[in-house]
Amino acid sequence: MKRIGLLTSGGDCPGLNACIRAVVRTASYYGLETVGFIRGFKGLVDNDFKILDYKSVAGILQRGGTVLLTAREPRFKDYQYRKKAYENIKKLGIDALFVIGGNGSFQGAYLLQKEFGLNVIGIPKTIDNDIFGTEYSIGFDTAVNNAMEAIDKIKDTTMSHERVFIVEVMGRDSGFIALEVGLATGAEITLIPEYPLPLHIVEEKILKAKSMGKGFAIIVVAEGVASAKELAEILTQRLKDKDIGEIRYQVLGYIQRGGSPTAYDRIMASKFGVFAVEKYVAGEKNFMVAFENGSVVLKPLEVSFGKIRVPNIKEYEINNILSL
Ligand code: F6P
Repeated sequence: MKRIGLLTSGGDCPGLNACIRAVVRTASYYGLETVGFIRGFKGLVDNDFKILDYKSVAGILQRGGTVLLTAREPRFKDYQYRKKAYENIKKLGIDALFVIGGNGSFQGAYLLQKEFGLNVIGIPKTIDNDIFGTEYSIGFDTAVNNAMEAIDKIKDTTMSHERVFIVEVMGRDSGFIALEVGLATGAEITLIPEYPLPLHIVEEKILKAKSMGKGFAIIVVAEGVASAKELAEILTQRLKDKDIGEIRYQVLGYIQRGGSPTAYDRIMASKFGVFAVEKYVAGEKNFMVAFENGSVVLKPLEVSFGKIRVPNIKEYEINNILSL
């Protein structure tokens, strides 16, 4: 029986298990056996794996995290460990490696293709949704919903106490989460790294909210702009004579990355997984799955390297129109 390898790599996110299930079940449907490596590339180097069959992925679709575990593997930067990984793959009779990961994981997989001719297939995941070449990465929708639900709760206190509240969301260097969360919660101010807003404008917006009789203001700040603590301190200092009350802050952190995936993430993860295996069965090699103009498509893995995906300016403007 022909074998494929599968791993999850980089930070976990909701929807990974749905994708694992989709890959394993589609493989099984087409008469392939799946070897699941544990802790991403670490499992490849250490030859740590388990055989995944149709039944072994039952009941995981709705669970967050990854049943294959995940890790960041610094040894993979070193050729001798990549060689070791490839030798393990060959010994197991694996014909192609499916990597559910982000940009860094795709680059690791690409090296196995370049150096040893292995067929590697990337399936994009990251709550940050910043992988170049795809409009969607598994995990994003759940992260946005998690943050939205948390801010809805924070908003009750913010409104009741008429406070200025700063909420820091994840995204590493990108502002996709903040932008969507800002829209979904009606944040008065949304700060993202791609379209910087000077501090004096932030101040003006806060004062405008107060002068309009709004009493409160929610500021959603992407972690790539500033920490909520830092921003709260700066604004408290700059607005100390303006009688705006106390400025409070909250870092949402890993709450965004955990929990059961939304229906959208379950569906996208399933579609991506099925598509990847079906394209492999059809003879395609060395590609990444991507989402473009409403369709799941195939692209060369290298498309995602070295480029930065930037949010649409229009969406940013919508946020501005609807806020203050
Ligand atoms: O890339 C996903 C992400 O959650 C980022 O939003 C965040 O900056 C980072 O990972 C945190 O990484 P770690 O798991 O190493 O703390």
